[in-house]
Order: sequence, then structure tokens, then C-alpha cells
Amino acid sequence: MSVLRNIVILTGAGVSAESGIDTFRDGGGLWEQHRVEDVATPEAFERDPDLVLRFYDMRREAIQTKAPNAAHHALARLDREWEGDLLIVTQNIDDLHERAGASRVLHMHGEHLNAWCTACDVRSRWTGTLIDRPACPECGKAALRPDVVWFGEMPYHMDAIYDALREADLFVSIGTSGAVYPAAGFVRNARDLGAATLELNLEPSQGTGWFDEARHGPATEVVPAWVEEILRP
Ligand code: OAD
Repeated sequence: MSVLRNIVILTGAGVSAESGIDTFRDGGGLWEQHRVEDVATPEAFERDPDLVLRFYDMRREAIQTKAPNAAHHALARLDREWEGDLLIVTQNIDDLHERAGASRVLHMHGEHLNAWCTACDVRSRWTGTLIDRPACPECGKAALRPDVVWFGEMPYHMDAIYDALREADLFVSIGTSGAVYPAAGFVRNARDLGAATLELNLEPSQGTGWFDEARHGPATEVVPAWVEEILRP
């Protein structure tokens, strides 16, 4: 590998699992408790908005009671200390990377603590509930929805993400099952463009064979160990 300067990190639900936030596809995960098509599509929102708003209100409340874990803190340290380019692309809608202190973060599936007004298109920080149809702070209309990307919608920041992948010397995937595209395809984009690739996950992901190297274990162990290694080679 050439000189390591530019790093792109993809994170998924596994990085927040040890903070007590349910993953989607593990045993007892969110998609065992709820059907995707009932709570996470634009059609579901049209059909039964109360069900969808209640689902996200409960999760928004839960997220605010959780704290970043050692994996979030290690990535925040890497963000602070790494002098080259670094981008944390997260599929997570929680704010635990930011609460740990990371700033170079893009939320490709949206942010749970934002509400998006479908009338005026403005996004507002939102920590309360939406089920009671509050007024948009910007235009006053009761047209707020969770600012999360549902199945069938376009993920956010794709141009910036592909730009970063093009420049990456190293792509690291942390705590994601590799089941949902386009994120699951980033490893192939990165390696086709010459980056080294590393998986850090509890178990082999669906795409584990695409990575040059894979280390398996809990994020709170494997992530701090990798960060230490990369900052003190
Ligand atoms: P998944 O639930 O699909 O996968 C979580 C991954 O984390 C699995 O591979 C687990 O083995 C791993 N994992 C669990 N606990 C871990 C731990 N303590 N340490 C390390 N790894 C652990 O979640 P995602 O891959 O993030 O999208 O799911 C991707 C997208 O699917 C989500 O963003 C969401 C979902 O449907 C939307 O809602 C649009």
C-alpha cells in the first residue's frame, strides 16, 4: 500500500449495539420486531402515519437515554488526531459519533434528532415527539416527518461519499451486515479505486469476502485496538 493518508470509515448499527441501541438484523433486532414495510417506507407513512410516527418517537426517546461507547470514542479520537483526510460515513441515525466528539461525520440515512418539514423543506433539530403533529418552527404548518431515509428513498450525501471513496487509501467498515445498498457496495467501489479494505465486525458480514482483512469481535474492543494501531504505528 502507498502512504496512508485518506481514510473513509463506514459504520452501521453494530457500532452502537454496546450502547444499548438495537441493531436491525441480529436476533431480536428491530426488523424482527417490526416489518420494514410497516414502518420504514414512504408508502407506510402514507397508509398509517400514526404507526410510523409512534415507532420513530419511541426510538428518538430511547436514543437520548444512551451514551457513546468505547468504539465511538476511539473513532472521535482518530478524527481529532488524524492529519490526513478522514470521513466517517454512518448509516446510523443516532448522534453517538457526534456526542463522542467526532466532527467529520455524514449521516447517509438521515438523523433521528432532526424533523423535516414536507411543506417548506426545512430541517429542524427535534428532540420531542411528532405524533402530536407539532407545527414546523419555520413555516408553522403541521407537516413534519422524521428526517430519516426510508426504503425506496435516496440516501443523503452520495456525491460527497463517492468523492471521498475515490480519494481513499483505506476503507474500513465497522458494525454493518452488508445487507443494504448502496452502503454495502462501498467496499467494492473503494477497492476498485485502489484502497486497502478492512472489516471490523462482530462476525463475518455478507460482504466479508470483499475485504483484504477482517477482524471479528465486539466494536468496543476491535475498534479502539485498531485506532491505537493506526495512530501509533
Ligand atoms: P444490521 O442490523 O443489518 O447489522 C448489524 C451488524 O453489526 C451485524 O453484522 C452484527 O453482526 C454486527 N454487530 C452486532 N453487535 C456488534 C458489536 N457489539 N460489535 C460489532 N459489530 C456488531 O445493521 P446495519 O448494517 O447498520 O437502514 O443496517 C443497515 C441499514 O439497514 C440501516 O441503516 C437501516 C436498516 O434497514 C434504513 O433504515 C434505511
